[in-house]
Amino acid sequence: MIFSPRSEQFDDIYFSVEDGLAESRHVFLQQNDLPNRFQGKSRFTICEAGFGTGLNFLCAWTLFEQSTRPNQQLDYISFEKYPLSSADILKYLAHWGSEFDGRLERLVELYPLRIGGWHRIRVSAQVTLTLIFDDVNRALPQLDGAVDCWFLDGHAPAKNPDMWSDIIFSQMGRLSAAGARVSTFTAAGFVRRGLKNAGFQVSKVRGYGRKCDMTVGEFCGQGVLPVAIQYPGRVAVIGGGIAGASLCSALARRGVLVDLYEKHELASGGSGNLRGLFNPRFTARLGDEADFYSSAFRHGLCEFSDLQTRHDVGLLPCGSLHIILDEDKLKRSEGFIQNWGWHKDHARIVDRDEAREISGVPLSYGALFLPDAGMISPKLVVEALAQSANIIMEEVGSLSKQGHVWIVNNREYDAVVLAGAHDVLKFPHVSWLPIHTVRGQVSLMDPPEIFSGLKTNLCHGGYASHPFDGTMVVGSTFKPWLDHLDVTEEDHVEVLQKLAVVVDGYDGVSLVKGGRAAFRCAANDRVPVIGCVPDWDGLYLSVAHGSHGLSTATLGAEIIVAQMAGESPPVPRNVLKFLSAQRFIDRKARKGS
Ligand SMILES: Cc1cc2nc3c(=O)[nH]c(=O)nc-3n(C[C@H](O)[C@H](O)[C@H](O)COP(=O)(O)OP(=O)(O)OC[C@H]3O[C@@H](n4cnc5c(N)ncnc54)[C@H](O)[C@@H]3O)c2cc1C
Ligand SMILES: C[S@@+](CC[C@H](N)C(=O)[O-])C[C@H]1O[C@@H](n2cnc3c(N)ncnc32)[C@H](O)[C@@H]1O
Repeated sequence: MIFSPRSEQFDDIYFSVEDGLAESRHVFLQQNDLPNRFQGKSRFTICEAGFGTGLNFLCAWTLFEQSTRPNQQLDYISFEKYPLSSADILKYLAHWGSEFDGRLERLVELYPLRIGGWHRIRVSAQVTLTLIFDDVNRALPQLDGAVDCWFLDGHAPAKNPDMWSDIIFSQMGRLSAAGARVSTFTAAGFVRRGLKNAGFQVSKVRGYGRKCDMTVGEFCGQGVLPVAIQYPGRVAVIGGGIAGASLCSALARRGVLVDLYEKHELASGGSGNLRGLFNPRFTARLGDEADFYSSAFRHGLCEFSDLQTRHDVGLLPCGSLHIILDEDKLKRSEGFIQNWGWHKDHARIVDRDEAREISGVPLSYGALFLPDAGMISPKLVVEALAQSANIIMEEVGSLSKQGHVWIVNNREYDAVVLAGAHDVLKFPHVSWLPIHTVRGQVSLMDPPEIFSGLKTNLCHGGYASHPFDGTMVVGSTFKPWLDHLDVTEEDHVEVLQKLAVVVDGYDGVSLVKGGRAAFRCAANDRVPVIGCVPDWDGLYLSVAHGSHGLSTATLGAEIIVAQMAGESPPVPRNVLKFLSAQRFIDRKARKGS
């Protein structure tokens, strides 16, 4: 008999104690007629409810690569509300490791932080895993696409009825491709009825081991038509900041030729600071913001870690303490912890003494601690990411469309991305966007004695960075009403005085050795604008990243490339809407009606 882990939440096993591997192969591979169903499909989508240890995923991934051609792709989407740690996954599956030929180790290596949200991981040239750490009932209605095969692997219906809800069955009906298959270990009557009502022809077949029966089904409805993925040949990206550079890299990775236009120097706008912090913007509620910023934070962190292995981009995952200065911040931090679905390994509230110990500085308050947050050099990131493009040092003055072709400074493109921050307003196609500039200034100083032991970043409305190369960055001011970029003494004083409020024994008087001022670009609703431009086929925007562009730009680029090429979106449908330029038009129409 083989050991099977038990779920703390449901007091139920993850897989058969007789032989989980054999069970997974029987219930989910054989009964879904895999690998036969892979044949002739350039792209095959499996959707699983209950990722657990990832055993079913490893079985499907292995079988797919063993039985298909290199140009066939597997999209595996899986929902998990209570993610295990990667260490536990390795512990539980290690005795089958040789069956997966290195894939278990690869999964463990790439497994995302245990934070809520959609996490897309390209595990191999043929296979993409979208791991959705959320309640399947909340997340499935936000999925789009055409599913070829369903693995229903929630715990036993009696122990966890939520995993067998009518919401799930009806969403399966909405998302199934013609002839989609489903299998599950249970033969419970209400599950079979739910599947039937959703359009599946259902039958009972022999289960694995001691289980007499299980359920299989085939979708009899018309089914969703899969969208063919087609990459543009050549794309123009206008704006050499972190938003534009992230697009260059995301497109080049897929073999698309990119011209990057920059009118000054790369990273000469908001993205030109020596160091910046990567942090999510957080709120108390679970909603669109949580869905976007959680995924964006994890995505950015992975991109930068990967980049750092090839170029020095100043990555320092030193952690951030978000100081809890008042009741308002306490409520926000508590709500975030309760609702955003971040495991305590990745976010927790610490009292003043622990905050002092973690930071190495005599802080006056407790804090929300995010140990995975950190610091990068936006300038170095931009330079590294932009290497994938052909850089054209020109201001784009004219943008027009002739038939299907976009013309940028007299060159022809299949698609164009506007990533020039607030300067995009000069293009009539988007001049109606409600976006504006917000001047900010950072100060550079040698760390005063009291900060000599600083081990993390501090965020307190402003921020103070972990020292690097003997320098500490203290930032930043926020002055939408100013339109000049002169570095001012007044702003230096402001950020240091702000810092003095949260550090006992620091008077906020230090010698500043330099500073930099730049404009952020923000939308009136403080949400980035990412995605296609309404009414202009082939034109996209990645702007208004506000004060969090270092965390939002890289996922923003993936969202745009997915829209451009017909890949499945890397974020839920509500996030696409939340970020879209169309939201302003919809709001105006609602107000007008
Ligand atoms: C002082 C300060 C501190 C900040 N600190 C942080 C931080 O710690 N963490 C964080 O996440 N974010 C921080 N931000 C915000 C962050 O820097 C921005 O969100 C981010 O840099 C925006 O990147 P972007 O690519 O959209 O714009 P930009 O970096 O401004 O890039 C736009 C580029 O487009 C070019 N361009 C515009 N129009 C044209 C045209 N027609 N033709 C050719 N080129 C064109 C511009 O020259 C510019 O280089 C800070 C911002 C400031 C100002
Ligand atoms: C039987 S286990 C899955 C086993 C898994 N397929 C494997 O290969 O290890 C069921 C999983 O569903 C998860 N789960 C339970 N309720 C959920 C919900 N409402 N939404 C998403 N996942 C849920 C559990 O945490 C558990 O990991």
